[in-house]
Amino acid sequence: MVKVGILGQGAYLPSKKLTNFDLEKMVDTSDEWIRSRTGIQERRIAGSEKTSDLAVKAAVRALKNSKIPAEKIDLIIVATISPDSNFPSVACKVQRALGAWKASAFDVSAACSGYLYAMTTAKQFVQTGLAKHALVIAAEHITSLIDWKDRDTCVLFGDGAGACVLGRVKKGGITADFLQAFGDQGDLMKVVVEAGRSPFHPGKSTYTKLPHVVMQGQELFKIAVNSMADAIEKVLKKAKVKKENIDCIVPHQANDRIITAVAKKLNIPKEKIFINIHKYGNMSAASIAVALYEAHQSKRIKKGDNVVLVAFGAGLVSAANVIKW
Ligand code: ACO
Repeated sequence: MVKVGILGQGAYLPSKKLTNFDLEKMVDTSDEWIRSRTGIQERRIAGSEKTSDLAVKAAVRALKNSKIPAEKIDLIIVATISPDSNFPSVACKVQRALGAWKASAFDVSAACSGYLYAMTTAKQFVQTGLAKHALVIAAEHITSLIDWKDRDTCVLFGDGAGACVLGRVKKGGITADFLQAFGDQGDLMKVVVEAGRSPFHPGKSTYTKLPHVVMQGQELFKIAVNSMADAIEKVLKKAKVKKENIDCIVPHQANDRIITAVAKKLNIPKEKIFINIHKYGNMSAASIAVALYEAHQSKRIKKGDNVVLVAFGAGLVSAANVIKW
């Protein structure tokens, strides 16, 4: 079987920082509550930059770090739940910006598990020979889907993008994949439009709120812990790697307490887990992409390491990968 691995990575974070103290002035919350309940200290806000702008910037860095020019990319997959618009896809916009004219391009919608869904999809393309070099991007402007008057959600999220180039490798690479969905529980986290009725419908006719995220946090918390622990166990079994041989886990960064609970459930030392939630909050699909990039940059991941990626998010969907670096 052809081995497929990461040839290079990149990330981009918008420069505007929104701290917990800034949020104290916007809603009834406190730095103390946000820090102790989530681990988040600040997050980035894309403002007028679109998801495709973030995606392109992360992609340019990934291409540079992998030394693969855009002309050699034959597949672009963007994981996002906050595309610029329904169409064209973010992936097609990235293709245009990069001039990657050989590439096929499409988006994947799997919320916080999106980067892993996209990576596993791209891996199949490379393994089967349908693509030689795949550009996988996770980009989110999720703060555009937030009701900034709702303290339950507005303290949690941030914007950003991460990317990698996948191609054939001689040794290691992505050695196992695990994808799962629980569509029956999708109502626990969704984007709703609380719009008024049309003028032709009896009742009020004014539109009230833009599309925004609603979620049942406590319920999701429990499912997140169980499904991420389960995904790790299943993917390790597939990869034939023992828990004690994991060098680094890069989890989705939704809540530091979720990460702690997963580590405890699996009896894995928390020091083995890469965490950057304090800087960025929950960036949905982009969380793991940025964290994996930073873990490698900061030398938390070294050649030969067994790395586990694990995610959980709206859908509901969970996913995990093992990468032999
Ligand atoms: N500031 C101050 N108080 C707050 C805030 C806030 N920002 N938000 C809620 N509270 C209050 C609540 O009103 C409640 O008050 P009450 O006790 O008087 O009723 C109290 O704090 C406790 O609220 P809980 O909802 O029980 O708080 P919890 O400890 O569960 O933390 C949180 C909430 C952070 C949302 C947590 O449940 C969580 O992280 N859930 C998982 C989220 C997740 O994983 N989502 C899926 C992935 S994201 C994706 O797919 C894009």
